[in-house]
Amino acid sequence: MASGKIFFSALVLFVISVKLPEVDAGIKFNEAFMDRQRGMHILTSMKEYENKQGFEATLGFVSESGNDTYGEDINPLQVTVRIEKKTRLRVYISDYSNSRWEVPHSLLPRPKLSSKLKHVSSPQLAVTYTRKPFGFAVTRISNGEVLFNSTPPTTGNKNLLFNSLVFKDQYLELSTQLPSTAALFGLGESTRPDGLKLNKNRTFTLWATDTGSIRTDVDLYGSYPFYLDGREGGLFHGVLLLNSNGMEVVYQENYLTYKVLGGVLDFYFFLGPSPLDVVDQFTQLVGRPAPQPYWSFGFHQCRWGYRNVSMTKAVVENFRKAKIPLDTMWNDIDYMDKYKDFTNDKERFPLEEWRAFVDELHANGQQYVIIIDPGISIAYQNYGTYIRGLEANIYLKKQNGENYLGQVWPGPVFFPDFFHPNATQWWINETQSFYNQIPFDGMWIDMNELANFCTGISCTWNGTIIDDYTSCYLQCPNVLNHTKYDIPTYKINHEGTYEGLGYRTAAMTVKHYDGTIEYNVHNLYGLSEAIATNKAMTIVREKRPFVLSRSGFIGSGAHTAHWTGDNGASFNDLAYSIVTVLNFGIFGIPMIGADICGFNDETTEDICNRWIQVGAFHPFSRAHNNIANKPKELYLWESVTISAQKALGLRYRLLPFFYTLNYEANKKGYPIVRPLFFAFPTDPNTLNVNYQFLIGNSILVSPVVTANTTSIEAYFPKGTWYNMFDWSKIQSVGENFTLSAPWDSINVHIHEGVILPLQESALTSIEVRKTPFTLVVVFPSGALSGKANGYVFLDNGDEIIIYLKVNKSSLIIFEASLKNGEGVLKSKLKFKEYALEEGWILDGVILLGINTTHTSFYFNKNSINPERKILGEEGLHISGLNYPLGEAFELKWNST
Ligand code: NOJ
Repeated sequence: MASGKIFFSALVLFVISVKLPEVDAGIKFNEAFMDRQRGMHILTSMKEYENKQGFEATLGFVSESGNDTYGEDINPLQVTVRIEKKTRLRVYISDYSNSRWEVPHSLLPRPKLSSKLKHVSSPQLAVTYTRKPFGFAVTRISNGEVLFNSTPPTTGNKNLLFNSLVFKDQYLELSTQLPSTAALFGLGESTRPDGLKLNKNRTFTLWATDTGSIRTDVDLYGSYPFYLDGREGGLFHGVLLLNSNGMEVVYQENYLTYKVLGGVLDFYFFLGPSPLDVVDQFTQLVGRPAPQPYWSFGFHQCRWGYRNVSMTKAVVENFRKAKIPLDTMWNDIDYMDKYKDFTNDKERFPLEEWRAFVDELHANGQQYVIIIDPGISIAYQNYGTYIRGLEANIYLKKQNGENYLGQVWPGPVFFPDFFHPNATQWWINETQSFYNQIPFDGMWIDMNELANFCTGISCTWNGTIIDDYTSCYLQCPNVLNHTKYDIPTYKINHEGTYEGLGYRTAAMTVKHYDGTIEYNVHNLYGLSEAIATNKAMTIVREKRPFVLSRSGFIGSGAHTAHWTGDNGASFNDLAYSIVTVLNFGIFGIPMIGADICGFNDETTEDICNRWIQVGAFHPFSRAHNNIANKPKELYLWESVTISAQKALGLRYRLLPFFYTLNYEANKKGYPIVRPLFFAFPTDPNTLNVNYQFLIGNSILVSPVVTANTTSIEAYFPKGTWYNMFDWSKIQSVGENFTLSAPWDSINVHIHEGVILPLQESALTSIEVRKTPFTLVVVFPSGALSGKANGYVFLDNGDEIIIYLKVNKSSLIIFEASLKNGEGVLKSKLKFKEYALEEGWILDGVILLGINTTHTSFYFNKNSINPERKILGEEGLHISGLNYPLGEAFELKWNST
């Protein structure tokens, strides 16, 4: 019997040792520990895999008293532990005798438990376990650090509600011990006034909900049960609980507890060790982020309330007049006839005029995106989409087989069930026929939590059609259904209250195609719709799709972009949106942005001004506004116009870099914008930076997030940083600086060691693509020697997949070094043909961190005398090189 002290040394380290001594963690039935659990799971049998890289075990339940609020304990349980990759381990716990609900492989393809285990050479993770009660711990082999440990602590505060393992039909609980210094990030979706790092004594509810992101610390649109855990010394790992049921994750001092309403405990551990490695390993499992079209990195304008074609058109015109870049114009539900999907209002959006407008956008190199909601109106018998849906029989059903009735903007609706094998084809057909009328470029799928303005299983519609359906007008007899699914015994803190799960969504007993109930799949609706929509858009446009979804789940990034939802127009909303944007990079959805200027509430000039300055650098950069509020377009204020021109001006120059990050996101899962600790994981100060962020690893954006502010405190990790507007420098040892932030300026700095491709600014991304390139080469200040590197990926921006292929794309690698004032910059090409064919030109080079006096230059060994401009103290811009970017070159310089 192991005592608490020798507990770890007595654990079984199965990847190293085959011997499996009986280990008892020494836990007794202790009321204090075992608050709700009246018993424990004990390992009863176990079979190790031949290659010693995993095992299968059974657990038996020893009951102390049958008195339990959350239902019977499932007995026996099955445990499977597998090293799936060098840096990935899976621990799966379920009912031994009966299969249980799991995230379907059709939505999230992944290795099956039944698949043959491939031998992994030198795995870097190990598992140890205890028999009585059963618990497991995951260890980083390199330093022996325990990353996750489900065994209750045997010492310390006995009042901790730390059960070893609870497994009931509708209540699963498992905790992990954590060192108090662990830095946790993730577990969404919610708006976080706490900032990026998770605070202790918080509960995170994961339940897809149609509520505004203006509300803080409540469950929002999607469920992302994934966290990143940074330990002392800067090593990170990630933990995914692949489970779609409603859950709460409780973070207390020294432990984290999952309280889950169903499904299985399917944990994946990703070893890192850097945050980028973790996201790479995580997205390798759940799906690499979908590549986004080039144009989607331009600016987007939307508003709920562009009531007709001419209003919409006027906005585009006003952008042009104000000389503010605009790539994509959007229409919200205003265009629809009575809010019916795939229809247009004949008065306000007459087809001919509407189509002419979209054609004109296209002729000007701009794009057009429309919204589609899942609720299909049933109020009109001649509504084709609805009728065809009935024929395909794809609507969500009640238990008695009738279609389930809900209500959204169009009034009474049925909801498509994207689990139904006919649903995707029906959705594609509807998209196709609408597209044939209006060639939209992207689809915005909203309200897909599912949002339902009524609550109940048996609502009826009395046949009356009214104009305004913003609250429930159906007749819903017993509002909340009192089934065990609608009101499970364990109640999660949903929307900040303990309302039943079916509150303002489909009732929990609603059936999906194969009989699956809403209770299990609720959190997957957005993902299932995004998959179908991505497919539909790919088929109808035959180009790379752009989909923006409000609801999502783990894996959604492979199909859709996301925005932070209905925020408010305050400085707090602005600041918190930065945190959400960074969190979505961690969740594998790097194409993310917030409604610039704020969706709800009236905005102010100051807020809108500061918001465009930060929103200009988010991957998805879109202004959007509620119909209930006054217009907020950027050009309405002179100051905001100037800020937008400046900030978006730099963003458009950075488009080749954003696009290269888009390529990287698709290949490696890396977020496009990142928290500072992603690039500086060993600098502990970066863990507490909430409102600054990096584009890639090297461009630091330090926005103003408070009212009436013209100077800010900003953290700069070690090294030399150059301001990208005036090229002034900051030399940091890893410290705070006070920066001036006049009303029209945002601080954007570039870090030493980098080579950044820039193009010229323009009013659309398509125009930017035609301009020459300038390379920014950044050396540390005053250093006599140094190195810098970078690369750019180029393709046509619309190819369905993003890949490196001869004649389709080019990858150009840049390397520079400096030694005793003599420097060399070289390019290397992988597949030069595409870049040559496009005719891109290298015009200039900006050298930062060099002695700018008496510099002589040699290009491909020939002495040249380029145009020169001194930038700041240590910057020199040479231009007029006029050389094909698709050809390798060598630039040498020396300063005397
Ligand atoms: C809710 C969305 O979050 C918002 O962006 C949109 O404008 C409204 N629905 C109306 O469609």
